[in-house]
Amino acid sequence: MANQIKISPSILSADFSYLGKEIEAIDKAGADYIHVDVMDGHYVPNLTIGPEVIKDIRKSSKKTFDVHLMIEPVNPLLESFAKAGSDIITFHPEAEGNPKETLSIIKELGCKTGISLNPSTPIGVLDDLIDKVDLILVMTVVPGFGGQSFMEDQLPKIESIRKMIDLTGRQIDLEVDGGINFETAPKAISAGANVLVAGTATFKGGQSQYEKNIKTLRGV
Ligand code: DX5
Ligand code: ZN
Repeated sequence: MANQIKISPSILSADFSYLGKEIEAIDKAGADYIHVDVMDGHYVPNLTIGPEVIKDIRKSSKKTFDVHLMIEPVNPLLESFAKAGSDIITFHPEAEGNPKETLSIIKELGCKTGISLNPSTPIGVLDDLIDKVDLILVMTVVPGFGGQSFMEDQLPKIESIRKMIDLTGRQIDLEVDGGINFETAPKAISAGANVLVAGTATFKGGQSQYEKNIKTLRGV
């Protein structure tokens, strides 16, 4: 299916000493979504930001806030993340006992729903959930840190999920996250992705380069 490619810069690679300005800059440079990586030092070994920071940076852009929760458990914090201004909330199914229920809660809170598959998570996990999701996020690194190398062995999984999505006839974003750069972006797109997360590759070279970086990633 021919889709317009969306770029979702991961703010993990931004300079946090002026995070609001960095978000304004990627917004102006043509970012489609703003990818916010939330890590809890428990589900993943790294620790990043929570709802309070999201609430403040929300003022810097009206674009879609694509919030990627790498936290365990998920449910107790969903309301805070929704109230902080998340548009899409994505979580890892291993981090909650009943992922279907978690998807319902996200929807009831007025957000779009996303499910994320680790490199080791089989696509079978989607069988019961695909009808309830607006976005499927395929990790092409083990989650936890920016700047890792793209795992090419995830490409067949992206292709299979694209087929599953097309069979539903619904508009579900297929997002790829981890190690996306000018060389790997075309591979993810050919496999069927329509949203690319890119941290290192977007923020490389400072603010004067963001527009060029985003355009190159998008391939136009
Ligand atoms: C990894 C995060 C990614 C990551 C992307 O756990 O979910 O969003 O920061 O960073 P790059 O594009 O640098 O691989
Ligand atoms: Zn992410």
